[in-house]
Amino acid sequence: MINPLRGMKDLTFEESERFNFIIDTATTIAKRYGYSYIETPILEETALFKRSVGDSSDIVSKEMYQFEDKGGNDVCMRPEGTAGVVRSFVHTKLDRQPMKQKFYYYGPMFRYERPQKGRLREFHQFGCESFGEASVYEDFTIITMISQIFNELGIGFDLQINSLGCPTCMPPYKQNLVSFLTEIKDKLCDDCNRRIGTNPIRVLDCKNQICQSLLVNSPKLINNLCDECDTDFKKLTELLDNAGITYEVDTNLVRGLDYYNKTAFEFVSNNIGSQSAIAGGGRYDKLVEFLDGKPTPAVGFAIGIERIMELVQMPEVNRDGVYMGAMVEEAVEALFPLATAKRKESKVTLEYNSKGFKSHMKGADKVGARYVVLIGEDELKSGTVWIKDLESKEEKTVLIKEF
Ligand code: HAM
Repeated sequence: MINPLRGMKDLTFEESERFNFIIDTATTIAKRYGYSYIETPILEETALFKRSVGDSSDIVSKEMYQFEDKGGNDVCMRPEGTAGVVRSFVHTKLDRQPMKQKFYYYGPMFRYERPQKGRLREFHQFGCESFGEASVYEDFTIITMISQIFNELGIGFDLQINSLGCPTCMPPYKQNLVSFLTEIKDKLCDDCNRRIGTNPIRVLDCKNQICQSLLVNSPKLINNLCDECDTDFKKLTELLDNAGITYEVDTNLVRGLDYYNKTAFEFVSNNIGSQSAIAGGGRYDKLVEFLDGKPTPAVGFAIGIERIMELVQMPEVNRDGVYMGAMVEEAVEALFPLATAKRKESKVTLEYNSKGFKSHMKGADKVGARYVVLIGEDELKSGTVWIKDLESKEEKTVLIKEF
C-alpha cells in the first residue's frame, strides 16, 4: 500500500464538506467586499519567493519544496499565496491600471516543516490581496472582513496586532535592537544569534522561553514609529475600538515573512493546540515595486483552512435529493430517463441492482435522500412510479409521464 507523504493528507467525506463550506462562506464574504477570484500557478521560479518572502526567513531558508525541473530551471512549490498574486499583478500589467484591485484565492501551499497537529507540509489557504489603497481604512476593512468570516463560521478568535513601521522608522529601530541584542547575545539561543546578523526583528518572536524572558526589556518599535506610522496605527486601534472588535497589541508580532510594513496582524484560537494562528496578514506597500512593478500600496491576509476545519460549526444537513431503485430487474432501465431528467435540478442516486423494498429504503437513508422513487411489478405494469417524501412521510403513485 502506498501512503500519502508525511505531512500531506487526503480530504474526503465529512472533511471535504467542511472544506467546501469554509471556502463557500469565505468566498461569499470576499465577493461582498469587492474581491474577484484569481488563480496563480503552484509552481513558480524560486527567485520569486527569495525576493518576496525573504532569503533569511525560515520559509525560504529551510522549508521550500525546491528543485530543478527537467529544463534546468530552479523552481519551487509555492509556500504561500501573496508572492504569486503580486507576480501576476505585475506580469499582467495590472499595476499600470489606475483603479484599485482586489483578489481572493484558495489552494494548496507547501512548506517542508516538521509535521504536527495543525502543521502540515501541504496545507490550504484562503487569502485576499487588496492593491492600490494606502489608507488604513483598508487595513481595518480587511480585519473586519476576516472577523465576519470567522463569525459566520462560528469560530471564536483573539486578534493580535502590531505595526512594523516603514523605511523611515524601521532602519533606526533595527540598529537600536541589534545593539540591545548584541549585549545579551551570549544568553540567546543559536537561532537568535544567527538572526541578529540576518533578520534581527525575527528574534522578537523566538519561541524559546529563555530568549523571551531576556527580550522583555528590548526596545519596542511601537514606541519608535515615525509620525505617519504612529498616526495610522492609532487610527487602526480607534477604528477597531469603535467597531467593537477586541484586540491585543503584541509588540513582538513580527510575522515570518519579510515583506510587511505598518500593520501586521494574526488571528489566533486557543482551541487547537500549539499551532494557534488561524489567519495572518498585513500591509506590504513595497512588494509590488520590489517585484519590478509600479509602486502600489497593498494589504492582505490568508486563513489556514486545516487549522479551522475542526472549529467550524457546520449547518444542519437536511435530507436532500432523490433515491431511485427498481424492485424487479426489468424496471431498472425504465429509471434511467427519469434520473437524467431529475438530475437537471437535483441530486439523484440511482441504484442499478433490483432489490427488495426494505433494502431500498435503507439505501435511501444511507445517502440522506429526501425522496424515494421506486418501480415494482405493479408500477411497471401500470407505467407509474411510487414516491415517498421521507421528511413529510407523504407517499403517492404517479404516471411516469407526469413524473
Ligand atoms: P502565514 O502566516 O505564513 O501568512 O500563513 C497564513 C496562515 O496559514 C497561518 O495563519 C496558518 O493558519 C496557515 N499555515 C501556515 N503554515 C501552515 C502549515 N504548515 N500547516 C497548516 N497551516 C499553516 C501567509 O502565508 C501570507 N501570505 C498571508 C498574507 C496574505 N499576508 C498578506 N497577504
